[in-house]
Amino acid sequence: MDSIAILDFGSQYAQIIARRVREAQVYCELFPWDAPMDKILAISPKGFILSGGPRSVYEENAPYVQKFIFDTGLPILGICYGMQAMTHALGGEVYPSTSREYGYAEIEKMVPGTMLDVISKVWMSHGDKITRMPLGFIALARSGNSPFAAMGDMQRKYFGVQFHPEVNHTPNGTKLLKHFVVDICGVKPNWNPASIIEDSVVRIQKQVGNQRVLAAVSGGVDSSVAAALVHKAIGDQLVAVFVDTGLLRKNEGEQVASAFRDNLHAELVTVNAADDFLSALKGVVDPEQKRKIVGEKFIRTFEQQAKQLGQPKFLVQGTIYPDVVESSAPDRNKAEKIKTHHNVGGLPKDMQFELVEPLRYLFKDEVRAVGEALGLPQSLVWRQPFPGPGLTVRCLGEVTPERVSRLRAADAIFVEELTNAGFLNRRFSGGSMITGPLVVQPALVSQAFVGLLPVRSVGVMGDLRTYVTTDDFMTADWARLPHDLLAKVANRIVNEVDGINRVVYDITSKPPATIEWE
Ligand code: XMP
Repeated sequence: MDSIAILDFGSQYAQIIARRVREAQVYCELFPWDAPMDKILAISPKGFILSGGPRSVYEENAPYVQKFIFDTGLPILGICYGMQAMTHALGGEVYPSTSREYGYAEIEKMVPGTMLDVISKVWMSHGDKITRMPLGFIALARSGNSPFAAMGDMQRKYFGVQFHPEVNHTPNGTKLLKHFVVDICGVKPNWNPASIIEDSVVRIQKQVGNQRVLAAVSGGVDSSVAAALVHKAIGDQLVAVFVDTGLLRKNEGEQVASAFRDNLHAELVTVNAADDFLSALKGVVDPEQKRKIVGEKFIRTFEQQAKQLGQPKFLVQGTIYPDVVESSAPDRNKAEKIKTHHNVGGLPKDMQFELVEPLRYLFKDEVRAVGEALGLPQSLVWRQPFPGPGLTVRCLGEVTPERVSRLRAADAIFVEELTNAGFLNRRFSGGSMITGPLVVQPALVSQAFVGLLPVRSVGVMGDLRTYVTTDDFMTADWARLPHDLLAKVANRIVNEVDGINRVVYDITSKPPATIEWE
C-alpha cells in the first residue's frame, strides 16, 4: 500500500498530523526524526512530512533531516521546525529568535494555484523563522511576522509552511495536507475501513495459520474490535474469553455477550467470577491494594481459562497506535505524556503467548470505524472509557456486594438520563467511513459516571461526575449540564436507589483533580 512517512521532531502535534493524513484516507506512519533509514523506507513512502518541534536548529544536538531523505528524491513537506530544519539542511538561513509568534495569523498568498489556495487564516506557534530560503525555493505566502510563511521548490517538490495546517485552528489545513499527500506525492486515497479490514485479515491469517487464538475481551472498544477482526479472519479458531468480575456496569456482561453472539456469531466464553473477586476484596479499603487484587485475580482467572482451553499459542491484544507511538516519541517529557494504568485486561507476563495485535497501526477513530464496519453494535463501538479495575475505583471505601449494586444502579440512572437528553453516545456524521473529520456535538460528554463515597453525614452519598475532555483524557473539564437534568438525575437516584439519600455533582477539572476518585 502507498504510504507517507511522518518524521516526528518532538512536536506535540505530530500525532495530529498523522491523524489528518489518515482522514485523507492515506496510510502513514510516524517515526522519530532519527529513526534508521531501513525502518522508514520499509513502508515504501511516497513522500515525507517533517513535523514541528520545540528546538532551534542552531542548538547543540538539534534534530536534523537525515540525508537519505533528500536522496530518495521524494516530495517533502516541512511544518514549522520541519521547515526550518529543511531550510538549514539545504543552505538557507534560519533566524534564531527568543520571542515567539503564537496564535492566529493571516497569510497573504504570493503565487496562485498552489496548495495554499484554500488557506487564509493560520495557526502559528514558533520562535525562529526563515530569513533566506534555500536555492530553488520561491515564497508562496507571507504573514505579518514571517516573510516566508510558506515556500516551495516546485522542481524537487519540497514545501515548507511556518504555520500548523494540522490543528483545527487552521481552517482547511486538512485540505492542504491532503493536497500534499494525494496530488503532490501521488498516493491513492484508499485507506478506509474496508481496506483496513481486508489488509488485517490477510495479515492475521498469515500470522496464525490454522492455530487457535485466544482473546480476552473486557467490553471496551479496543479489545472488542481486535477480537472481531481476528474472528473475521479466522472464524472459529478464535476463542474470546470474557471475565465477569462482578465489577462491571449494569448490563455490561449481557451486552458484550450479545454483541459477540448475535452480531459477530462468534464463540464467547463467559467466566462468572464475581464471587471470587468480591470475596478477595472483602475488608480492603486502600485503593492501590484494591487495584492490585483485581489485577492479580484477573490474571489468575484468565490463566486458568487458557489452560482449560488447551493453552492456545496466540493471544489477541488491543494495542492501538497511540500506545505504540508514545513509547518511541523523541524529545518529549515521556513521564508527562505516558500514563500507565494497570489494565485489568493486561497480559499475564509469565504466560508464553505470541501476540496478535491487529489494531497496532490504528487510531481510536479508525478502530471505531472498523468496529462499525464489522457490525459491532453502536453501544460497544462508542463505549466510554472504563477503568480496568472496574467499579472498585468508583466504590470508595470497602467494596461490598451491596455497595457495588447501589453504585451500579445509580450509575445506570445517570447514564440513562444523559443518553435520553442526548449527551452521550457519539456517532459518525454519515456512514462509517473515515472520510472526514468526525462531527462531535458541542455539548457532548466524553465520560460520565457515579462514584459512591464512604461518607455518612445524613445518609449515604452518591457522587456524579461528568467530563468534557480534551487530549485523550490527559486533561478534562467538567460538563456544564443543565440544572434541570441534574435535578432529575439526583431525584431519581435518591428515590430509586436504596441507601443513597444525597447526591453531589463534582465540578473539579483535571488537573488538578484526576477523573477517577481513586
Ligand atoms: P484519571 O483518573 O487518571 O483517568 O484522570 C484518566 C482516564 O483513565 C481511566 N482510568 C483507568 N483506566 N485502568 C484503566 O484502564 C485504571 O486503573 C484507570 N484509572 C483511570 C479513567 O476512567 C479516565 O478515562
